[in-house]
Order: sequence, then structure tokens, then C-alpha cells
Amino acid sequence: MPKIEFEGHTIEVPRGANLRRALQKAGLSPYNKAARRFNCHGIGSCGTCALDVAGPVSPPTRIEKWRLGFPPHQRDSGLRLACQCRVEGDLYLEKHSGFWGQHLPYE
Ligand code: FES
Repeated sequence: MPKIEFEGHTIEVPRGANLRRALQKAGLSPYNKAARRFNCHGIGSCGTCALDVAGPVSPPTRIEKWRLGFPPHQRDSGLRLACQCRVEGDLYLEKHSGFWGQHLPYE
């Protein structure tokens, strides 16, 4: 089973698991602050579940490309929407600051 490292935690999830649901099932959150309550619940339209993902996940979905293509996200940020990703191997995740997690540390 793939391992996910996130915010000091390591969890194991089944290959193919939806990343957002896997994090939430483990008591972790892909959201910052108020976005924990105010989000689209995984349909890919709000952009608040954006994470920096290192490791193999499914290719970006059409709605994911659309949502990451306009502000406050930047098309070339490299972020992924947790609600649109399937886990395909061991992952290291980072959540950046900002309501959407859009503030990249190297900007
Ligand atoms: S939960 Fe809204 S885009 Fe992922």
C-alpha cells in the first residue's frame, strides 16, 4: 500500500484511493482554515484542496486543469487538487499558505 507523508504524519492508503478522501479518512485535511468548511466537497470547482504533490498520482482531470488555470492559482504552479487525484504510489505532500493554498514558498 502506498504511504503518504503529510504534516508530520505518515499514513498508508490503498492504491487508487482518492487523495482528498484518504486524507480526511485519516483525520487530515487538504484545506487551510475556513476552507475546511467552505469548499466544493470534492467536485473540483473551488480549488481550495490544492496541494504540492511529490510522487505518482493520476493525470490532471479536465476540471482540475480548468480550476488551476485561473486566479488565485497560476497555471504553471505545479499544484494538484487533492479531490481530483488518485494515489498511485508513495507521496510527500505540502500545503502552502493562503485560503486556496496558493502561495508558493519560492515566489
Ligand atoms: S474540494 Fe473543491 S476543488 Fe477540491
